[in-house]
Amino acid sequence: MSKYAVLGNPVSHSKSPLIHSMFAEQTDQVMSYLAISVEENEFEDFVRNFFAGGGGGLNVTVPFKGRAFTLAASCSDRAQLAQAVNTLFLDDNGDIRGDNTDGVGLVTDLKLNNKVTISGQRVLILGAGGAVRGIMAALVYEHAATITIVNRTVSKAELLVEEMQSMASIEAMSYEMLQDAASNGRNFDLIINGTSSSLQGEMPKLDAKLIAPGCCCYDLMYSATDTLFVQWAKQEGASLSIDGLGMLVEQAAEAFVVFRGVRPNTASVMENLRKQS
Ligand code: ATR
Repeated sequence: MSKYAVLGNPVSHSKSPLIHSMFAEQTDQVMSYLAISVEENEFEDFVRNFFAGGGGGLNVTVPFKGRAFTLAASCSDRAQLAQAVNTLFLDDNGDIRGDNTDGVGLVTDLKLNNKVTISGQRVLILGAGGAVRGIMAALVYEHAATITIVNRTVSKAELLVEEMQSMASIEAMSYEMLQDAASNGRNFDLIINGTSSSLQGEMPKLDAKLIAPGCCCYDLMYSATDTLFVQWAKQEGASLSIDGLGMLVEQAAEAFVVFRGVRPNTASVMENLRKQS
């Protein structure tokens, strides 16, 4: 039986084994998919041994996406732009290749599942860590009109801007600058929360004036109850307030295509996960 797994630390909360087992059942694929917690200093050895032992493919989550990028012998363009890898598999020569399906997962959830337009829209992104890196390339490829990245540590947002500025109209800001912009009437059509702040039970203070008419607010995080960001967006009257469960399932579907060459149906899997949470 072909073996697959998601590697992370911690990883026990991961829904990937459940999602991939639903995909496998749906598409009649005979495969196993486990969540494996890997020690910080053992990641590279684990990956090499996994493939040497006949493993079919791996997903990679926090904190290993950057190291998976470095380890891969070659990468897709989207992983190269993100400098982060969430999917590892063997290429035709038997070398380890990296891909990043996070961005396409977000775009598919926005465009296909929620009918949200990205092209020509003014996009605000909160955060400049690993999660944001994964989605930047996809947003650039979708031709957002402008992309504004706000981060507590402004230098990290500035670095992202430097890397992407030849491809998009993109700027970095502090939260203070964002507040000034809101006070001056600036607003956004799509606001994406890519901070991990809700994990600590907090979120950056945001002015409701940032929400343009028809605005979609999207949290890359998800939880059984509304995340703090989704609560804020609903309270302040955003047209759409969405958490990241759809993105999670869509990025997994894209990885499943890479692994098995078959595209699963995501709607039924999302419905099942919502029922269970
Ligand atoms: P991930 O891989 O989940 O993105 P990360 O790379 O550690 O994790 O990035 C976390 C992001 O959330 C960062 O942008 C971080 O801001 P800093 O770069 O300034 O640390 C942001 N973040 C975390 N807690 C936050 C908080 N309480 N308020 C605002 N931003 C926060």
